[in-house]
Amino acid sequence: MLAEDKEKYDAIIEFLESVESKSDLIEVLHKTQDLYGYIPKRVVTSIAKTLDIPVSTIYGVISFYSRFSLVPKGKYSVSVCMGTACYVKGANDILEAFSRELGIGVGETTEDQLFSIIETRCVGDCALAPVVNINEDVYPYFKIEDVKNLLNDLKVGVEND
Ligand code: FES
Repeated sequence: MLAEDKEKYDAIIEFLESVESKSDLIEVLHKTQDLYGYIPKRVVTSIAKTLDIPVSTIYGVISFYSRFSLVPKGKYSVSVCMGTACYVKGANDILEAFSRELGIGVGETTEDQLFSIIETRCVGDCALAPVVNINEDVYPYFKIEDVKNLLNDLKVGVEND
């Protein structure tokens, strides 16, 4: 285990020891997701042991919430809302366009670790449908024609960092 990785792992274990009950599972998962950018399998094993929760239950919770991921996410998380309001306004075509441009499917990350694609349920911005989120930024009234430009802008931003 690399030193930086050990530090994160130790932080999670320390946090785990401070929680009081199984009901703190979501909080532990949030903390792990924030620290690592995803939820490593060995951390799931430690959570299961410490909180005495079956591993299968934890994986069930992780797969229920789109915020949690079992694989490392890219620097930019392209999140396409697939709720009803967005869906009827073409969210599926937008999702496919991102997938085509990036050469990855939903839940996957590009090889350069720059982009991940996730689909979400309604994010509460139905009046702005269809909605795409890139990390915390909201892109309202999204159009397929915006896909290429947005990805190019983000790539240029990275090159200029
Ligand atoms: S359905 Fe997309 S924001 Fe509500």
